[in-house]
Order: sequence, then C-alpha cells, then structure tokens
Amino acid sequence: MSKSLFITLEGGEGTGKTTLIKSLYAELSSRGHEVVLSREPGGTEGAEAIRDLVLKGDANRWNSMSEICLYYAAREDHLMRIIRPALAGGNIVICDRFFDSTRAYQGHLGDKEQNVIKCLEDNIVAQHKPNLTIVLDIDVEIGLARAGSRKDDECRFESKKLEYHQNLRAAFLAIVAAEPERCKTIDASLPIEEVFAKALAMVNAALEVRS
Ligand code: TMP
Repeated sequence: MSKSLFITLEGGEGTGKTTLIKSLYAELSSRGHEVVLSREPGGTEGAEAIRDLVLKGDANRWNSMSEICLYYAAREDHLMRIIRPALAGGNIVICDRFFDSTRAYQGHLGDKEQNVIKCLEDNIVAQHKPNLTIVLDIDVEIGLARAGSRKDDECRFESKKLEYHQNLRAAFLAIVAAEPERCKTIDASLPIEEVFAKALAMVNAALEVRS
C-alpha cells in the first residue's frame, strides 16, 4: 500500500535505538505497512559474521581502515540481499544504524578515512541513501551508564574513553547539521513515550513526502 521508505536510526551508545525501532515497527505494521527491520553491522548471514569480527575482541583489534572495509563489506551484502529488494518491493525498511555510523565512528579520525568512506558511499550506497535518519542524542555519561547495564560481549566501542564518545556525539550532530533535510535529532533523555511521539511525527512526515 505504500511507496518504499528507508529509515535509519543512529546515535551513540545507550541512546535507546532498539526500543524505539520496536515501537515504530509495531505502529507501522498495525497500519498495514510492510515493514522490514534490520540492523548494521548485520542483517544477513555474512554481515552477521562480520559483526562478530568487528564488535568482539580487543578494542585495538582493527585499525580504522580495516574497520571501514569490514563495515562496507557487510553493508554491500546487506544492501544486496535485504535493503535494495525490500525497497524495490515498496516496503518500509527500518535499519538500526547505517552509513552515518561509519561516518561518525570511523570517519572523524582523519582525512584519509573520510576520502575512502566517501568513495565507498558513492559506489555502494549510491542512490540508496535513507529518506529519513533519526539521530538519538543523549549526554554521553547517561548513555554509557545505560549501555553499561547491557549484558553482552559486543563491547569494543563501549570500552573506549569518555572523550571518544564525546567526539562521537559531536560527529553525529555535525552530520545532522550538514544534512538537515534527511537527518533529524531527538533528545533521547526524554521519556520513552515522548521520544516515540517525536519519531512517529518524523516518520509520518516522510511518508507524506513519499506518497
Ligand atoms: P549497536 O548496534 O548495538 O549500537 O552496536 C554496533 C556498534 O558498531 C556500535 O558501537 C557502532 C559500531 N559501528 C561502527 O563503528 N561503524 C558502522 O558503520 C556501524 C554500522 C556500526
């Protein structure tokens, strides 16, 4: 019933993306939309295997250039098998992280990295940029405290220093400032229902534009 729509959620650690995505999925599905939920890195068997490689182990296991290549290998597989077909079929795709995470996490490190990321974006993401990107923004210490209560072993990034996470937050805000049409921020310290209401208003506006 709907034209395709590609929505991504972004933000630092502990911003509540997963909870919000589940609520958006429930709401949009109940309205009769075909909604595909996915995440990055991951979403396909191969990309999930790459997720294990990049998110587990020592914080210095990979350098930034190796990470960029791994994230983009996962992204190409995800685009090819899930995202492009779902959008071609007129579905709504909601993805927990996408290329803005590479820009923010790997891209703020240096010019060389940024050039490689730009080249990969142009060739791999190409015209499949998200229609709407919601960046959940929260004070770094609150986010890390929330993420710290999570029990899993995907901790390479969460174990890095406070300054690293502050730079990351600034990187996401810079992305929003650079592409205000596509990217919107929500204050993730607000009560869950308010965050959901704001996100839903953004999704509704994006659906309007597409119909
Ligand atoms: P999360 O999905 O549970 O937030 O964990 C994914 C982690 O992967 C998070 O720390 C950010 C990191 N990441 C990158 O560094 N670059 C990327 O391109 C993506 C998609 C994720």
